[in-house]
Amino acid sequence: MTIVTLYGTESGNCEMIAEDIADAIRDVEVQVEDMSVFDPADLDADVLYLVVCSSHGDGDLPAGAQPFFDRLEQQHPDLTGLRYAMFGLGDRAYIDTYSQGSEHLDRLFTELGATRVGEYGRHDASGFDDPSDLSIAWAKAVVGEHAAGPSPLAATPTAVVVS
Ligand SMILES: Cc1cc2nc3c(=O)[nH]c(=O)nc-3n(C[C@H](O)[C@H](O)[C@H](O)COP(=O)(O)O)c2cc1C
Repeated sequence: MTIVTLYGTESGNCEMIAEDIADAIRDVEVQVEDMSVFDPADLDADVLYLVVCSSHGDGDLPAGAQPFFDRLEQQHPDLTGLRYAMFGLGDRAYIDTYSQGSEHLDRLFTELGATRVGEYGRHDASGFDDPSDLSIAWAKAVVGEHAAGPSPLAATPTAVVVS
């Protein structure tokens, strides 16, 4: 399994978190990529992307993610088969727009055919959770779930009991 933490930031928190996640996942090599210089054409269906993205302005994407989003929207690639997990950084003080930046990206990935895996992770800057601890726990859960593959129960055909 190849893992890339793909971050979109404005003031650096997402970059710090993407690097902390990469340091914490030891069984697999994790590359860290900055959305501000990442070409959507390089998205690879053999990679699991751990996307870490904040919100700025009025629930908008951070400056470091907007050009990536625009290119993705313009190129409109078919992302069927691509797997990603999403971790949004935000602040509940922004009552109406909490964590919405990452949600713009999540919607576009899904619209283009990619599949989100694991829980949608979030960090609230007004809360008491440490962003690194929270995101590392999230990333380990996502990677563990992904490595385990689909639940065997989900693949088991339903038995029909005739009495
Ligand atoms: C000017 C400004 C606007 C923000 N707007 C929002 C917002 O609309 N919604 C939200 O959830 N967080 C908002 N935030 C909080 C940031 O998303 C949060 O501080 C995050 O940790 C920043 O991560 P970054 O350094 O990777 O950009 C805003 C922060 C600033 C400074």
